Amino acid sequence: MKGLICYYSGSGNTRLACRYIAAHVEQAEVDLLDIAKGQAANLVPYDMVGFAAFTDFWGPSALFLRFVEGLPGQENKLAFVFNTYGFVSGKTLRVMERAVSAQGFRVVMGHSLHTPESYPPMIVGGRGNEDAPNDKEMRAFAAFIAELDRVLEEAAAGGEVKKRGVPIGLLNRLLPVPARTRARAGMGVKYVDEALCTECGVCARVCPYEAIELSPKPVVDMTRCYGCWACYNRCPEKAIYTAKYRGIGHYPKPDERLRAKLGV
Ligand SMILES: Cc1cc2nc3c(=O)[nH]c(=O)nc-3n(C[C@H](O)[C@H](O)[C@H](O)COP(=O)(O)O)c2cc1C
Ligand code: SF4
Ligand code: SF4
Repeated sequence: MKGLICYYSGSGNTRLACRYIAAHVEQAEVDLLDIAKGQAANLVPYDMVGFAAFTDFWGPSALFLRFVEGLPGQENKLAFVFNTYGFVSGKTLRVMERAVSAQGFRVVMGHSLHTPESYPPMIVGGRGNEDAPNDKEMRAFAAFIAELDRVLEEAAAGGEVKKRGVPIGLLNRLLPVPARTRARAGMGVKYVDEALCTECGVCARVCPYEAIELSPKPVVDMTRCYGCWACYNRCPEKAIYTAKYRGIGHYPKPDERLRAKLGV
């Protein structure tokens, strides 16, 4: 059996979790596809496709949804959805499930993994959740991967694969998906500390919405900016700042504790 996981990761937590899934699934060889790299996805060779994203204001990011909407229509190809989150997932998995199903995939299961926060305002507010996932959450993650293996076994045997469902929990069911304009406004205008900026271009490269141009310092097109904080988080010089946040709360890459738990 062959599996593919298409993932969108802003700071690397989701990428690490997907690598962990790929390394621990026994019933299929699993390839990974980084949605942010913009490659076209050839799904034909795969028996099952996983879709993974991080929670971005209680839902999946626009980049993820645009990728899914651009996929060719399927006839019940097996699929699962997976997200990482720092505090509360909200409707992330549900919105992902709907988007993926709308393309003709048969979504049979889903899982949310609690991880450290990558959202600077939460980190500055002391809610970095650096120790997530805890032991119980790691056991639940392992149980999800074991179930994924059973799904793959059923698929390999050629029978009808039973749908396991996509659990999101009561609290998440009650939460709305906030309008993106709020998130964008929450981050607000980005400034560049010209004394710190080395014109390295990292911010422009990591901006998934092509909102940054170097001229030669970065210039942000606020009409394209999605408020994803990738430029802020990943500038090696911490030169990007906003009206409220300067030099604090960055999450450029997965926390060492998460690496130790998910290192593969
Ligand atoms: C812009 C932004 C919005 C976020 N919104 C949420 C949220 O609504 N709920 C939550 O639990 N975590 C939220 N997070 C935290 C991330 O979902 C979490 O840290 C995730 O593991 C990051 O994955 P990544 O490293 O693959 O990007 C947000 C992070 C960012 C950058
Ligand atoms: S990533 Fe930072 S240092 Fe590099 S160009 Fe952007 S603002 Fe300047
Ligand atoms: S400019 Fe920064 S915050 Fe806005 S979309 Fe690009 S990387 Fe994200």
